[in-house]
Amino acid sequence: MTPDELKALVRTIPDFPKPGILFRDVTTLIGHGAGFAAAAGHMADRARAAGAEAIAGIEARGFIFGAAVAARLGLPFVPVRKPGKLPVPVLAMDYALEYGTDTLEVDPGAVEDGQNVVLIDDLIATGGTALAAVQLLRSAGGVVTQGLFVIDLPDLGGAERLREAGLAVDALMG
Ligand code: PRP
Ligand code: ADE
Repeated sequence: MTPDELKALVRTIPDFPKPGILFRDVTTLIGHGAGFAAAAGHMADRARAAGAEAIAGIEARGFIFGAAVAARLGLPFVPVRKPGKLPVPVLAMDYALEYGTDTLEVDPGAVEDGQNVVLIDDLIATGGTALAAVQLLRSAGGVVTQGLFVIDLPDLGGAERLREAGLAVDALMG
């Protein structure tokens, strides 16, 4: 499946969840068996090339792609969770979103010291979510140098922000 064919499977919804936001909805991509497999396959190839020893995914949409990639590669999956979900003492970080603020949490025991953790999410907009996840995973002992996304919205500068923080950024589409 070509990048253009994959892109055609992503739906764009205006004014969701707030007026002025053009929401890029991957529900239609994961609802297409061949499209989902192709997206996960491309991301798995890139994660393997980056020397991944574990895959981290950001709740919720990053779980869908991250878990698919981890299972394809036979690697551990590290969930980067929304607040109050993990049953152990956590590392936590607040961050700003294109449409609000939130907190992410990681179980510090889920990452081994020096482990090469590749970060996966569906989309990068301002980069605030991914940056918080990178910081948490590094605090837990991970070496985090590669982020993989289905969609990059370059106008919001997220990828640039992440590169400045030492993360190589790859996306399947703009
Ligand atoms: C979306 C998306 C990314 C984040 C990107 O998640 O899945 O995680 O926003 O935005 P940023 O680059 O500006 O930080 P959202 O918080 O809407 O949560 P969801 O996955 O639970 O829908
Ligand atoms: N997360 C942040 N901005 C988004 C957008 N425009 N579409 C989908 N998810 C997002």
